[in-house]
Amino acid sequence: MLKQFKALLVMVYINIDVAGGSMALIWNETFNIGIKSIDQQHKEINEYFSKLNEAISNKKSKEQIDPIITRLIECMITHFHIEETYFDLIKYKDASEHIKEHGDLRIKVASFYNSYTKGKSVISFEILEYYSTLLLNHFKSHDLKYAPFLIQNGIK
Ligand SMILES: [Fe+2]
Ligand SMILES: [Fe+2]
Repeated sequence: MLKQFKALLVMVYINIDVAGGSMALIWNETFNIGIKSIDQQHKEINEYFSKLNEAISNKKSKEQIDPIITRLIECMITHFHIEETYFDLIKYKDASEHIKEHGDLRIKVASFYNSYTKGKSVISFEILEYYSTLLLNHFKSHDLKYAPFLIQNGIK
């Protein structure tokens, strides 16, 4: 039971900063998958979620928030592309399943972004929590699976 609870805590690693009245996404070294360049990209994506969280907390304008969202999506798309290039390079056996996961995430993010740019959706703590959890759980589960194969092939 305790083991299951601990596993759940690891999977849902969003820390809630109750004192600040808002959610705060805090990166923790245990989220690393062991490949420096990839961990750096994951960390950068997480940092953009934190910046958005801060911007919402400080009631920043749409003009101030928009570039952060754009940059977050760019980082995410570039990161997926880098991983998929590595899969090709090392002929990763589970590439198609992983690429499908990326596809699903791209569709979800694109759907929110389209709705947001048309003024039909707003960015909120709940939206941030939903997308950051989706992405961070992807890093922690799917990305962790390919790490040993990349390391075996000398990718750091
Ligand atoms: Fe990743
Ligand atoms: Fe991935």
